[in-house]
Amino acid sequence: MSDAPRERWGSRAGFVMAAVGSAVGLGNMWRFSYLTAENGGAAFVALYLLITLVIGLPVLLAELVVGRGSGRSPIGALLHFGGRGWTPLGGLFVAAGFGILAYYSVIAGWTLRYAVGALAGGFAESTGSYFGEVSEGLDAVAWHLVFMAITVGVVIGGIRTGIERTALVLMPLLFVLVCGIAVYAATLDGAGEGYAFYLDTSFDDLSLSTLSDAASQAFFSLSLGMGAMLTYASYLSEQEHLANESVVIAASDFGVAFISGLAVFPLLFALGLQGEASGSSIGTLFITLPKAFANLGAAGTVVGVIFFVALAVAALTSAISLLEVCVASAIDGLGWSRARATLVTGAGIAALGVLPARSIEALGFMDQLAGNVFLVAGGLGLAVFVGWVMRDPLAEVRRGAHGVEWFGLWRWLLRVPVPLALAWVLYQSVLKLF
Ligand code: TRP
Repeated sequence: MSDAPRERWGSRAGFVMAAVGSAVGLGNMWRFSYLTAENGGAAFVALYLLITLVIGLPVLLAELVVGRGSGRSPIGALLHFGGRGWTPLGGLFVAAGFGILAYYSVIAGWTLRYAVGALAGGFAESTGSYFGEVSEGLDAVAWHLVFMAITVGVVIGGIRTGIERTALVLMPLLFVLVCGIAVYAATLDGAGEGYAFYLDTSFDDLSLSTLSDAASQAFFSLSLGMGAMLTYASYLSEQEHLANESVVIAASDFGVAFISGLAVFPLLFALGLQGEASGSSIGTLFITLPKAFANLGAAGTVVGVIFFVALAVAALTSAISLLEVCVASAIDGLGWSRARATLVTGAGIAALGVLPARSIEALGFMDQLAGNVFLVAGGLGLAVFVGWVMRDPLAEVRRGAHGVEWFGLWRWLLRVPVPLALAWVLYQSVLKLF
């Protein structure tokens, strides 16, 4: 273990922006919109919100508690509070971060490719074949490597000068871009049908698979179940009100997902593209939306470029947190310097990413495995850990907190309902996958 003094966030806003940056990512725009489309719209959104509150929020607070309480990255943190027996859970976290970033960066590479391509020559009508060319093969590998290089460039700068500064600039920008697109989408003829699909709740479509999709989406979107929030919290000071921070993070994350739905669905419905939304899940955003942009002329090109730039920005701040989990673990556990840890883990992830960059089936499988199985298992493990094993988690929540006490309820949720729900979701996901 390294004895160098631990890095710290420069400000509360810096931490919150970085954590929101981790949460808000491709998950909010790409994964959220295709899952909402597949699961029949509004009912899925309602369920997702409910799960975010009842399961996501408690697990998020649990991560913050373990991270700040120990001041270590996942493996060391679990060792600190739980002893040797719990370190494999930390290992699972790091492996999940490694695996998720490998394919996440491929998708982020597509968004860069789309933004640059549209800047150069607008959007082509034949978006399906364009997606085919861009999403697999050399092009995809190259843009994946570009994106990984940028991510490494930020993380190597450290907590304050790398991660915090980037988040403080990019997150407000992202918010403005997404709101701008939503406002533009509202002006389209036929936007109303998009809103109706998105916001008019009919619970007929709800099924058990909707429930497990909503739960895994809540996890993925909040960056839970693999120690990303835990690691970020390990750089926090004692004065922070963890419970409040968790509410701010969860609310911003849901807010951005919700607003990007307000942008995506009117665009799809105004141009009669909604039927195609349910075709290929992973490609939805990359095939149907560019079709909309191509049909909207010059305005469409501008909005489209903004859209893909926003996606790339959102992806970057999330990728940073995924890489930071691996980097912090190498620094804490192996005593490496930040530069060495970043370059070595970054290169390993870049290499693994060549696989999903060459095969979209591999990418889909990695997303299912990591998103629906690893994260849910990790969250389940963490809930049990904080609910039953950790000695006095409430003391850590109370440090820096004052006022309202819903913490007893929090602990109870972590003890019984959250593990039961997650165990069930895990079971469903495993059934679906194998
Ligand atoms: N939350 C991000 C998104 O919505 C992705 C992400 C970043 C993530 N860090 C994570 C997902 C950690 C799971 C765990 O796109």
